[in-house]
Amino acid sequence: MPLVSMNYFLPRAKEEKFAVGQFNINNLEYVQAITEAGKEERSPLIFGASEGAIRYMGLNNVVALSRVAAEESGLPIALHLDHGSSFEIVMKCIRAGFSSVMFDGSHYPLEENIRLTKKVVEAAHAVGVSVEGELGTIGGVEDDLDVAEEDASLANPEDAIRFWEETKVDAMAIAVGTAHGMYKGEPKIRYDIIEKVSRQIGAPIVLHGGSGVPDESIQKSISFGVGKINVNTENQVASTRVVRELLEKNPDMIDPRKYLGPAREAIKEVVKGKMRLFGSSGKA
Ligand code: 13P
Repeated sequence: MPLVSMNYFLPRAKEEKFAVGQFNINNLEYVQAITEAGKEERSPLIFGASEGAIRYMGLNNVVALSRVAAEESGLPIALHLDHGSSFEIVMKCIRAGFSSVMFDGSHYPLEENIRLTKKVVEAAHAVGVSVEGELGTIGGVEDDLDVAEEDASLANPEDAIRFWEETKVDAMAIAVGTAHGMYKGEPKIRYDIIEKVSRQIGAPIVLHGGSGVPDESIQKSISFGVGKINVNTENQVASTRVVRELLEKNPDMIDPRKYLGPAREAIKEVVKGKMRLFGSSGKA
């Protein structure tokens, strides 16, 4: 089937209390691994493409690979811009064929974030593209984003509810204590914020920084209203470990298929595990 908007599966996820994974793509092998995992698990899925990944892969390659994956697998797959930083990049992605976008205005004051996000929602919804907004700042490093721990700030629930009422985004990312990248200790997730906001808004909460979050915390978050969970670092760690081990053991190995193939398998296994944990298996 063609790429779908996140509204194809997120309302059901919120209602039935499961979450759909956003798995960031970095190259062809990621696209293949995530799609294979989705096929084996019969799970809907979201390809996340950051601005850095788009620069690396090329905008049209990102769209072409994702379209082929959706068409050949028959799965409901959304191609989603991750942390879009401007109206311009959002429009460029929609024009190229993205079915979903995130506009990350979290570093702006609330009023400005609402104003800019509304503009994105109006344009995106006019062409059937879903939108994710963000409030509060999520710590850690991801591509062009680098937020020091002391600068990360949790979302204020009243602000988040107002943000949703005014923008009507389809998915609401709020900072609740997770961070991009691996954790040194255990993340302290504010379930009370998730619950309070989720009850008052008509969209699921998005949990960024899904890598390294303990299984019980993921399940608890979903039970309180998280319906979309982003994962990138765990796939990078798993696939790079395989490549490193293979090249260290086999210094003469030069055929990329010999190390990227096993790296792809490693990503597939991580993604399958997340789909089961998130409860999205069997929901395609
Ligand atoms: P991780 O890299 O920590 O899994 O976070 C991914 C993410 O939130 C993408 O927006």
